[in-house]
Amino acid sequence: MSERPIAIVPLQDAPGTLSICARWLNGEWGQAEGHSLDVTADWLRDVIAPGSGEAGFVALDGRAPVGVCLLVACDLDSRAELTPWVSGFYVLPGYRRRSIGTRLLRAVVGAARSGGAANLYLYTHTAESLYRRFGWRVMERFPLDGKAFALMAKALE
Ligand SMILES: CC(C)(COP(=O)(O)OP(=O)(O)OC[C@H]1O[C@@H](n2cnc3c(N)ncnc32)[C@H](O)[C@@H]1OP(=O)(O)O)[C@@H](O)C(=O)NCCC(=O)NCCS
Repeated sequence: MSERPIAIVPLQDAPGTLSICARWLNGEWGQAEGHSLDVTADWLRDVIAPGSGEAGFVALDGRAPVGVCLLVACDLDSRAELTPWVSGFYVLPGYRRRSIGTRLLRAVVGAARSGGAANLYLYTHTAESLYRRFGWRVMERFPLDGKAFALMAKALE
């Protein structure tokens, strides 16, 4: 792991990193949801397509991607009335606990705010306390695939 400064840039400005980000997100979530790597990569392309209203940010160590976070219109089909959502939030294990996740999340919150959203949503079973520290509150809890999830919201004033 290098100690060089880590840059946070829009994913569309670093298109060469998309396939690596897709591999992380597919390994972490997509595969378990039955999506192939190609489907996950196509989803990322759609997210950063001009006019999508969605956004992606990647953390770079030099040219190497080390983290990613997305702003998507919908991340939970059963709650399609809520929008937008944080999704695909991932930092490479060797780079964790260096505030890279915090910076990626801040970029996504900023993009949601710029897009005029009043609230931002996510669901998690792994990082509730992280989000709480940044002003997110639990709206409800629900089980999914044998895990206990929290549906969380953040007001964007
Ligand atoms: C969640 C994740 C993106 C955080 O990335 P990160 O770069 O380590 O985050 P940060 O360094 O900005 O951490 C911010 C704070 O939250 C804490 N934190 C980090 N991960 C946490 C977690 N999973 N749960 C609770 N707190 C966490 C850190 O300790 C840090 O606090 P500190 O400054 O007192 O040490 C990363 O752990 C990850 O990729 N996990 C696997 C995928 C995942 O669970 N994503 C979230 C899905 S909703």
